[in-house]
Amino acid sequence: MRLILLGPPGAGKGTQAKLLVDKYNIPQLSTGDMLRGAVAAQTEVGKKAKAVMDAGKLVSDEIVNAIVSERLDGKDCANGFILDGFPRTLQQADSLAVMLKEKGIELDRVVELEVDDEALVERVSGRFTCGSCGEGYHDKFKQPEQKDICDRCGKSDFKRRPDDNAETMRTRLLTYYKETSPLLGYYYAKGELTAVNGMGDIDEIATEIQNVLNELTS
Ligand code: AP5
Ligand code: MG
Repeated sequence: MRLILLGPPGAGKGTQAKLLVDKYNIPQLSTGDMLRGAVAAQTEVGKKAKAVMDAGKLVSDEIVNAIVSERLDGKDCANGFILDGFPRTLQQADSLAVMLKEKGIELDRVVELEVDDEALVERVSGRFTCGSCGEGYHDKFKQPEQKDICDRCGKSDFKRRPDDNAETMRTRLLTYYKETSPLLGYYYAKGELTAVNGMGDIDEIATEIQNVLNELTS
């Protein structure tokens, strides 16, 4: 399964990607997670990316394209992958098309998660993540079964993202509408886009996505 999850900040790309990882045993390629990893490790890329990410703007196409191209060559991508947060500009989409062609890979589907702006702000402002295994949570919508303990790995090392604040979220949304939403037309025109209503609860949306993917294999 080779999939792109497309949608605004807080739409649930990471949440749904993790469910698909478990189901299909293929990796989630989140450029946001990769860049946050680079920031934490204080690599050259991380140093360049930090201020841009904290401001809610986009890291350069050149940097992100190179990270993804290298990642797609990983052995764990041989049976598929879920791209989460990439591509995010038309330039990145064009670069991805070239990369896939060169690597002899065909994309199965681009799934768009459609979510109202107010819900996005609510989702982002309540988000926290396990710093050990990356499992995502929400103050209201997805709490750990035992308070302060990760359901997945049992650790108590929760983190909040520095860009999950009201001001940066406004910029992230603007950036999405300006830079990323043109990709909807791009993939629609290529006949690769399916929109899924992202306003239900997490399990309902997972079922909707599963229905889309089942149709591809039937
Ligand atoms: P990135 O990490 O990709 O952030 P984003 O696109 O802003 O998306 P989010 O991760 O905030 O949201 P999500 O859709 O994954 O939602 P989640 O599942 O967590 O990028 C961060 C930054 O890195 C960018 O701003 C940019 O600077 C840089 N960057 C990354 N990729 C780049 C690229 N390609 N080019 C250039 N720069 C790049 O869900 C959110 C919350 O809601 C969670 O708490 C979750 O539990 C909850 N939730 C999920 N689904 C539901 C539901 N159905 N109902 C209720 N709550 C829900
Ligand atoms: Mg995410």
